[in-house]
Amino acid sequence: MADQADKLRSLRLVTGGVSADGKTPPSHRGRRAGPAFDARGPIPDRPRVRSIALTSGKGGVGKTSIATNLAIAFAREGRRVLLVDGDLSLANVDLLLGVVPQKNLGDVIFGRASIEQVVLKTVDGVLLLPSASGVEELADLDDFRRERLLRELARLEDSVELILLDTGSGIGRQTIHFARAADDVVVVTTPEPTAFSDAYATLKVLSQGRLRGRPGIVVNMAATPEEGRETERRIRLVAERFLQLKPEYLGHIALDPSVGRAVRQQQPLLKAFPRSPAAAGIEALAARLLVDPPWPEPGEVDPEGFFLKVANFDG
Ligand SMILES: Nc1ncnc2c1ncn2[C@@H]1O[C@H](COP(=O)(O)OP(=O)(O)OP(=O)(O)O)[C@@H](O)[C@H]1O
Ligand SMILES: [Mg+2]
Repeated sequence: MADQADKLRSLRLVTGGVSADGKTPPSHRGRRAGPAFDARGPIPDRPRVRSIALTSGKGGVGKTSIATNLAIAFAREGRRVLLVDGDLSLANVDLLLGVVPQKNLGDVIFGRASIEQVVLKTVDGVLLLPSASGVEELADLDDFRRERLLRELARLEDSVELILLDTGSGIGRQTIHFARAADDVVVVTTPEPTAFSDAYATLKVLSQGRLRGRPGIVVNMAATPEEGRETERRIRLVAERFLQLKPEYLGHIALDPSVGRAVRQQQPLLKAFPRSPAAAGIEALAARLLVDPPWPEPGEVDPEGFFLKVANFDG
């Protein structure tokens, strides 16, 4: 593994805002890294961007629907949001937003496209990175391609305040990369026993390694608020007892036919049915996540940035 470790070290040296002598250079807030791929100097520190990953154990519990509409809710509150489709198996955020991606990160890696050509501007100004496939394999790329991709992603990161990740279901390697790199992880479940036992399994895997924040739980497709609370209580009791983990209940989202109707119209729920019960639930979730945990302080910098954290995660 020495080879891998060397690669990761070199990654930090050229992109981590840390100079070759190991000291962090003075902050260059507001300065863009720019596309100077041949300049091997460190990328400047950048303002810290908040990141939230949505994940689940069982598939089909509503992660993509929630992530897409949550991104819109944040954008409507004036936040610059990047929605990342981190689902390798079935990229479908674009479908919910009614856009058709033409290029992907592979095109950036091979120099066929800039990040601006890959990212799509969608509903209410939400930026969409259609498929983040490849980011977690950065360590396997040759130096030139890796640096090119990281610099492009850093430039993208400079232009947003929040990165929202829609990950795949199950505890695949890629999902763990994203969940560990994010400030906050939101585990989505439904009241179905198979869904909440899989949510517990997800928490268990996540608790075996480092997490940046306390994981949150959202109960989607709840028939009543009580059903949401009861589902959350069952997961929390087991998590407290066996994992010494106290997940935070972030609320429920109603079981609501408007969600399916919006999908069929290829429109996001918040646009098609803004007054529906599920839209209200997503707005309440956004309102909660807008204040808690707190946003980075003005001037707070992050020498790594989100995508480098994903790339540097080794395990
Ligand atoms: N609150 C809700 N009420 C009714 N139906 C819902 C609700 N949330 C999601 N759905 C429906 O459930 C299905 C799965 O939703 P979605 O694709 O968002 O789940 P997912 O967790 O992203 O799935 P996957 O694991 O396949 O990525 C969709 O048909 C969607 O319309
Ligand atoms: Mg999905």
